[in-house]
Amino acid sequence: MVDKPAIQYVVEEAVSAQLSDVLMITGRNKRPLEDHFDRNYELEETLTRKGDKSRLARVRESSDLATMHYVRQGDPKGLGHAVLCAEPHVGDQPFAVLLGDDLIDPRDRLLARMIDVQEQHGGSVIALMEVSPEQIHLYGAAAIVPTADSDVVRVTDLVEKPEPEQSPSNYAIIGRYVLDSAVFDAIRKVVPGRNDEIQLTDALRDLSHRDDTGGPVHGVVFTGRRYDTGDRGDYLRAIVRLACERDDLGPDFRTWLRSYVTEEMQE
Ligand code: G1P
Repeated sequence: MVDKPAIQYVVEEAVSAQLSDVLMITGRNKRPLEDHFDRNYELEETLTRKGDKSRLARVRESSDLATMHYVRQGDPKGLGHAVLCAEPHVGDQPFAVLLGDDLIDPRDRLLARMIDVQEQHGGSVIALMEVSPEQIHLYGAAAIVPTADSDVVRVTDLVEKPEPEQSPSNYAIIGRYVLDSAVFDAIRKVVPGRNDEIQLTDALRDLSHRDDTGGPVHGVVFTGRRYDTGDRGDYLRAIVRLACERDDLGPDFRTWLRSYVTEEMQE
């Protein structure tokens, strides 16, 4: 995305919410991810020799970002199963889950707000975004009731990827969660659901029905900019937006974009 991998934005988001210990759950063929966040001594040496300080700083940026740990999921048995792989690392503390495909614009504050809400209410907190009825089948959908805070709702039920007519609302789970460690036991009890996978949504559904251990579940309603980098259209929109906002590239890129759009409109 512009000049760094999408996953780096996700790690930077965690770091900007004061989370500096990152466990990445990866799968087969994902070794380049690990290399990206590791030191690259050969490249650093070449850049030092050339005196290219700005590139050197960029290369070091990714390896100095956070303490990185990796675990391989082995069989991809669903998001719930991926989260369960983190249990030995996490222990019994609340923890955040950030899905690598979902990119939250760095100018919008979501994760830090979710951590505040978790500290205030306990239990677990999920990020929700209103989507159109035609899109709800792509997401986990939440039944909600309002709370005293306009951006916070109480989640009373969840359904993974419902048909529009069966959806409890148009509030979709987007890929950010702050979870109570009770979720691990809840995941273990989940029977494979949609696509025969262990769904995180099903474990959270169980927690949303509880007031004691692991519950309640609250939602933070996000109205900022979110990009699904797994969707080609969204991926392109994200690159354009992020490039426009860059201090170094933005001014020239905006000028070009303006003339490009004017040309396109004349055709
Ligand atoms: C996953 C979750 C879903 C959530 C979505 C957000 O689905 O299972 O509940 O709404 O992420 O991106 P996936 O997109 O991995 O199919």
